[in-house]
Amino acid sequence: MNTFNYKLDNFLFPHINQIQKPIILELGVQKGRSTKKFLELCDRNNGQLFSVDLEDCANVSQNKRWKFFQTRDDNFEYIKSQIPNKIDVLFIDTLHEANHVKKLLYEYYPLLNSNGYIFIDDISHIPYLKNKDRNNFYCEINNKETFETILSIYSNNYKNFELNFSFFSSGLAVIKKLNENNLNPSNKLVLRDKTIKNYLRLIWKKIREN
Ligand SMILES: C[S@@+](CC[C@H](N)C(=O)[O-])C[C@H]1O[C@@H](n2cnc3c(N)ncnc32)[C@H](O)[C@@H]1O
Repeated sequence: MNTFNYKLDNFLFPHINQIQKPIILELGVQKGRSTKKFLELCDRNNGQLFSVDLEDCANVSQNKRWKFFQTRDDNFEYIKSQIPNKIDVLFIDTLHEANHVKKLLYEYYPLLNSNGYIFIDDISHIPYLKNKDRNNFYCEINNKETFETILSIYSNNYKNFELNFSFFSSGLAVIKKLNENNLNPSNKLVLRDKTIKNYLRLIWKKIREN
């Protein structure tokens, strides 16, 4: 089994396998690996899958439970006019850049039912570091920025959603909506790693180690 399927089977589907009549919005189809898995769930639990991609992916499946839209994922007015008012699952796997992911999150979050899930693929920079197998500057920087952006959204919304991460392969963020509140704006984290107090702590640590 490839790492992507393993990640979905172990860190995504266990959260949603029990949802009956799930309404799923999938952003990013390509060859349909995730699409086919979501459709298996829809077949089992009587659900519907709505998928979006810039490319024409209409041939990925003939399943009657599937509707495909060839458009940008931020064509919000159009996409919202084509799908039910409320969804249970959102899967984000298109352009893995922090500001884009943030825009999608804020725009689609109000559609999500309480107890529904948002999954964001590609939040780990580890496999893309210079000395690692996938060595890739773009993915390293953008995945790290996406991860930090999700944390900064969470820091102002920890009463509104649960947040968990898998760092398997390129990683996955798992968001569970807890209530019907709108998302608060994100907050830059106020960290103390660059304070004099911390520099003194690091010096003291070094002295003790020697
Ligand atoms: C990583 S692939 C999706 C992989 C797919 N989920 C799978 O399971 O194999 C990313 C896809 O997003 C599409 N894409 C990239 N930017 C997009 C955007 N802004 N709107 C819609 N689709 C986009 C690309 O055409 C590509 O097919």
